[in-house]
Amino acid sequence: MFGKWDGWGPLWDLLCGKMFPGWESAPPCLSPSPVQGCRAAVPCPYPGTMSVHYVTYKGIKFPPAYNSEHSLSFAHNEFLVRDDDVFNVTYPKSGTVWMTEILSLIRSRGHPSWSQTVLNSDRMPWFSTRLGLEAALSYPSPRLLTCHLPRHIFPKSFSHSTAKVIYTLRDPRDVVVSYYYFSKMCSSYEDPMSFEQFLRDFLSGELPHGSWFEHVQGWMEMKDQENFFFITYEELKQDLQGSVRRICQFLGQDLDDDAVSSVVRNASFSAMRENPMCSSVLLPADIMDQTKGRFLRKGICGDWKNHFTVAQSETFDRIYQDRMRGLNMAFPWDRR
Ligand code: PPS
Repeated sequence: MFGKWDGWGPLWDLLCGKMFPGWESAPPCLSPSPVQGCRAAVPCPYPGTMSVHYVTYKGIKFPPAYNSEHSLSFAHNEFLVRDDDVFNVTYPKSGTVWMTEILSLIRSRGHPSWSQTVLNSDRMPWFSTRLGLEAALSYPSPRLLTCHLPRHIFPKSFSHSTAKVIYTLRDPRDVVVSYYYFSKMCSSYEDPMSFEQFLRDFLSGELPHGSWFEHVQGWMEMKDQENFFFITYEELKQDLQGSVRRICQFLGQDLDDDAVSSVVRNASFSAMRENPMCSSVLLPADIMDQTKGRFLRKGICGDWKNHFTVAQSETFDRIYQDRMRGLNMAFPWDRR
């Protein structure tokens, strides 16, 4: 009898359209994961015909579950930066939640109770997303805020403020590997067809959040400004204690040795994996499918060597040299 009822199509459209405005106009696709991005608890009537319909703002794709064109435009054009705001800015998979943990622990002078009882996204709202924006607007000063925004769509009001930005960047080859696994488990990203294709999309700036090269170059234009601090994932790995001290100095926060040690201890990979407030295990399965992997996956430098073929590595190096030439900066991964 169910086979004869043809109301699934409209019902499905309604459910998906409600969750993801604009979905109904999405073109059919041949994605190997046809139901990616859908939340409806009904069987898919169109197997093989749906893909994630990204939100696009200023030509850059953003995952639909959290972002809307309105939240992005508001963040860019209307969001009022306060002078005592501190921003944690990254390209995805570069150490965002790690820096969130470090900054929260510094703010609480090494006491772990805030980090252990409040979700990281509530401690440092993602102000360019729908829910994060509401939180950010209602938070008292001084605020800690997070985003993946490229420099050119960061809040305009930042230019006239003394707010601080901490920019964390990571070996782009490890970024792409981490991003590949993350996209497989997170439903608001298209399931990658293959690592080869994913790497191509990364290099051509086709992935959500845009081009890594443009992100880094845009933010590095600020490198000599006193309210801007950048650090690499590799430096955090190599010397977390020294990195925490440098961050404290930038923030003007005077922490004693015990407090710094507590920050280091509680922001370690193993401590974060044990802390459900930052390990993402509390996210609903339809947002992040924990059976497909772990958000805090390996936490190491150089995992790209286990994934890149020689040919991929050569292609990457060629494009990297070409795109980074104008920057005149050396990062830890540039030392071979
Ligand atoms: S996201 O989704 O963009 O917010 O992801 P992001 O937090 O930027 O990056 C996730 C990667 O950072 C690793 N991570 C850590 N590594 C070492 N030590 C600590 N404490 C730590 N916390 C997070 C995390 O494991 C992801 O990297 P991979 O390579 O996938 O393990």
